[in-house]
Amino acid sequence: MNKTSIKRIGVLTSGGDAPGMNAAIRAVVRSCVYHNVECVGIFRGYEGLIEGDFQPLDARSVKNLINRGGTFLKSARSKEFMTKEGRQKAYDHLKKAEIDALVTIGGDGTFKGAIVFNEEFDFPIVGLPGTIDNDINGTDYTIGYDTALNTVVEAIDKIRDTANSHNRLFLVEVMGRDAGDIALNAGIGAGAEEILIPEQNMGRDRLIESLKRSKKSGKSSSIVVVAEGDQIGKNILGLAEYIRENLEEYECKVTVLGHIQRGGSPSCYDRVLASRMGVGAIDALLNGERDVMIAIVHNKIVSIDFKESLKGSNKIDESLIRVADITSI
Ligand code: F6P
Repeated sequence: MNKTSIKRIGVLTSGGDAPGMNAAIRAVVRSCVYHNVECVGIFRGYEGLIEGDFQPLDARSVKNLINRGGTFLKSARSKEFMTKEGRQKAYDHLKKAEIDALVTIGGDGTFKGAIVFNEEFDFPIVGLPGTIDNDINGTDYTIGYDTALNTVVEAIDKIRDTANSHNRLFLVEVMGRDAGDIALNAGIGAGAEEILIPEQNMGRDRLIESLKRSKKSGKSSSIVVVAEGDQIGKNILGLAEYIRENLEEYECKVTVLGHIQRGGSPSCYDRVLASRMGVGAIDALLNGERDVMIAIVHNKIVSIDFKESLKGSNKIDESLIRVADITSI
């Protein structure tokens, strides 16, 4: 039921793309159709908002999309939206197109922009957390994270084959910006020897000690998963050099997984999560909520205050560190 005067809703994706964003757009569009509200696609995130790059979307515009990675609306990291002038242009385009509310799908940068915009123009916005990093406060999972984990595990399984054949040590760098969620969970899932994450500074020498111990205990090859934001892992080539100088037991190789982690067909979990969140976004807007993020908490879809989402990133689950330590013995 539409308890508001909202007749037309815009949807955009912004920041780094994440698998499942298309499924979220699809759910937003079809939810609008279900509620007899018009839906407008905004291309290239806030850049398209500033330039008025809009296109009406109907149920068939989003066909054959649920299985596709990336975002068909395209994405951008807009510098102009950080300026007052840029946001004013965006507002003018929204007014001209008679768009009454926005759904923004993205990460913390997207939400920061949305919060400022909402404060300046009192414009109803609902955010969906879409980022592989899983670094948004207040939601257990973000759209794209599960797929990225599976991509990383699949890649490390392959690296393990060659590591094992040559008795080598591999440092595998994974994404996550300042968060260690991808590294920690994919590391456990792929059976890594050590996992370096920004939330826990291990130090180079403890790493060397640990690798020596595992070699002594009979391991012939090793995988170390390194989060890109980790203190000693940030310079992964430097770390590899240090290991080569201080650990004779292994030949050390480096693999940086990079943007393959952002691509590919979304996992079933991400498709369902994105669908639930997309429906939740339109429910929230038509219920009169504004300035909220849709989150999943204990497998329930809820809405939380937008500002909550930016209160530091999700803390790492300490019990996972213990699991990683025990299972890598
Ligand atoms: O936020 C998603 C993410 O893939 C991070 O993990 C990574 O640090 C960053 O984006 C890379 O950004 P870009 O694609 O702009 O290089």
